[in-house]
Amino acid sequence: MSELASESSIPGWVGGRELASESSIPGQPLLSAISMSKSFGPTEALTDASMSIAAGEVVAVMGPSGSGKSTLLHCMAGIIQPDGGTVTYDGRDLGAMPDGPRSALRRSEFGFVFQFGQLVPELTCVENVALPMRLGGMKRREAERNAREWLAKLEVEDVAGKRPGEVSGGQGQRVAVARALVTGPKVVFADEPTGALDSLNGEHVMRLLTEAARQSGAAVILVTHEPRVAAYSDREVVVRDGRTRQLEYAK
Ligand SMILES: Nc1ncnc2c1ncn2[C@@H]1O[C@H](COP(=O)(O)OP(=O)(O)OP(=O)(O)O)[C@@H](O)[C@H]1O
Ligand SMILES: [Mg+2]
Repeated sequence: MSELASESSIPGWVGGRELASESSIPGQPLLSAISMSKSFGPTEALTDASMSIAAGEVVAVMGPSGSGKSTLLHCMAGIIQPDGGTVTYDGRDLGAMPDGPRSALRRSEFGFVFQFGQLVPELTCVENVALPMRLGGMKRREAERNAREWLAKLEVEDVAGKRPGEVSGGQGQRVAVARALVTGPKVVFADEPTGALDSLNGEHVMRLLTEAARQSGAAVILVTHEPRVAAYSDREVVVRDGRTRQLEYAK
């Protein structure tokens, strides 16, 4: 498994660099990216992209294919380094952190769900969900007990003993959501978590993901193409040609 596995006038966007030192204050963003740029060779994937998320918030990231959504998410998660701009998590500048502590922070504070779950095929579903806790040093029995509780919350306790190849797409994604949430992350990064599912299944997974995240107080950054999925969020960030635009829903 791999390591993963601007607009200051916009309401809700707290612009400016002072967030960095004050991000633990209630109501301040937990994670914020300011004016990020990122190129892959000649391709400018991000150009002055900014977004922030507060504790417990669910933000949908929308935009056409190739607009830079995944790149934005990977930069915010510290998986890749932007060429320019800053990413601040809970007062810490991710770009200034050495790789080791940044990976450790990602393991302890962040959870990930991708389009195709990315479960380890050789492990059973319960072992997959237990894996992040096992990597953190937890004993097997305790890790698997917690894992089963999360499988139950995601309504897939019956597939605990099966391998990912033996479960449906929707079940696999629910197992992946359980694995992302089991460590009690502060931020869940979900990149088209329902992109490979039919709309009914996708909606069910979204409901369970957002409900479970809201219950545990995790913030969710949710990349999606589908307006129906975005409806589960508190607000939207639209990415076009590597630039971000923040939208507030009328309440
Ligand atoms: N590792 C890479 N190497 C080269 N180019 C890349 C790489 N990753 C992304 N790109 C390019 O950067 C741009 C943004 O890609 P990104 O994956 O962020 O888009 P996206 O909005 O997530 O698209 P999709 O909706 O199709 O997943 C695209 O032009 C893409 O081809
Ligand atoms: Mg993408």
